[in-house]
Amino acid sequence: MIRETFKMAVGWVDDRLGLSATLGPMLRHLVPHDARWWYVFGSATLCAFMIQVVSGVALAFAYSPSATDAYPTLQFITHDAPFGNFLRGLHYFGASAMVLMVGLHMAQVFLFGSYKFPREMNWMTGVLLLGFVLLMGFTGQLLRWDQTAVWSVVVAAEQAGRIPLIGEWVARFTLGGQTLGGATLNRFFAIHVFIVPALTFAFIGLHLLLVLRHGVAEPPKVGEPVDPRTYRANYQALLKKSGRPFWPDAAWRDVVFCVGMIAAVALLALVFGPPELGKPPDPSIIEANPRPDWYLLWYFAVLALLPHGTEKVFMVFGPLTVGLLLILLPFLAPSGERSPLRRPWAVVGILLTVTVIGALWVVGRKSPWSPNFSPEPLTAKIVGATSGPVFVGAQLFQEKSCIDCHLVEGIGGRRGPDLTYIADNLKRSDMIIRIVNGGVNMPSYGATLKPGELENLVAFLETRTKH
Ligand code: HEC
Repeated sequence: MIRETFKMAVGWVDDRLGLSATLGPMLRHLVPHDARWWYVFGSATLCAFMIQVVSGVALAFAYSPSATDAYPTLQFITHDAPFGNFLRGLHYFGASAMVLMVGLHMAQVFLFGSYKFPREMNWMTGVLLLGFVLLMGFTGQLLRWDQTAVWSVVVAAEQAGRIPLIGEWVARFTLGGQTLGGATLNRFFAIHVFIVPALTFAFIGLHLLLVLRHGVAEPPKVGEPVDPRTYRANYQALLKKSGRPFWPDAAWRDVVFCVGMIAAVALLALVFGPPELGKPPDPSIIEANPRPDWYLLWYFAVLALLPHGTEKVFMVFGPLTVGLLLILLPFLAPSGERSPLRRPWAVVGILLTVTVIGALWVVGRKSPWSPNFSPEPLTAKIVGATSGPVFVGAQLFQEKSCIDCHLVEGIGGRRGPDLTYIADNLKRSDMIIRIVNGGVNMPSYGATLKPGELENLVAFLETRTKH
């Protein structure tokens, strides 16, 4: 009796909503029979996105995006709220999983040549989705609202400010004003929880519709190049001959992988927990060691390693070129062989990308901060002299690039310690030792300074006291 009623109720809902009529054919659409484990990364990305949506909404219940409340509410989430620490961990490792899966998915599609005719738009929407994922990572970091988070964004804004023509505007838009503050946080929050997720949902929808429209690309075979005139007919014939319904013949792998990934993310969240919150942001403290999360770290390393003067060009043309190349890839190679065995350059490209990003990542972990390669000059007021050893020393401080790594009253770079009040902490003899010998991340100047230059430099540094 109860079973009968239940069945009727389910049947009624299904009929009125037309669920199985619409979703059924989608789920049972035919896929090539040999599309196996290689094909799970796309659905895994979607799965990671779902982790992010669920954990993100849960975090938003308690998080307050205001400059005064963000830090305390995060402390509350981390230490007091039930499962709060676990949730933050989920969201953190979920983000990593998503970046990783997007990367694997892209690499697989690229290696298999699946971006070729007729799936060009699948690839292009995918590249946009990659951009959204990175944007989510970048904006999400600031919401942590601790020293590291804040300084990472300051660096990024500083970099953006150097883009010719539109740099000022980009920096001001990013920060929501001239400096980083409450307005920046509100802005990043809106981007992180409304704009980009909405765009992501929309483009995932489109991406999936395109997958249904063109079908899942069959694994490539050597000697079977894509010919736009015959491809579609061949593909249909292949499906007719040996295709399998997506559900359940192929989908079980996606389900297994997705469940495994969720378990791994949950385990990491339990064992390692979220990244620790640093000190609350304080623009006057620069002892922080700002490093963006791992998937953005390599890019900071690029900026840190670029030779003097090329940064500006790179900032604009680097990402633009890579983005354009990626988007246009299907038009650069729309047909022909798909098998990686016949496309050695594709394999080399993937290996090279992985190696370069890996190497940059290692460098990025070591270099906490990029020297500031185009610091403003010290003003006469800061120097406090217009001639004599102190003045000459201040000139040298700039000529010898000390200022690239050291701040003096807010001007300069942040790779080394702030030297604004160095004379209060360091004896004359210790200054000389440091300059001559260098230190961790500081070059030694003993061999490059002419006689007298060292004296002048020290004379300048000796004026740097609070009194
Ligand atoms: C590539 C970046 C870089 C450059 C260029 C550089 N420094 Fe440094 N400097 C550092 C770092 C990093 C430290 C910390 C070294 C350590 O802890 O061993 C440091 C330490 C110092 C210290 C000691 C500060 C303290 O609180 O103990 C002094 C003084 C100093 N630098 C002066 C100079 C002068 C003068 C120049 C130019 C001639 C210069 N630096 C150039 C990175 C740099």
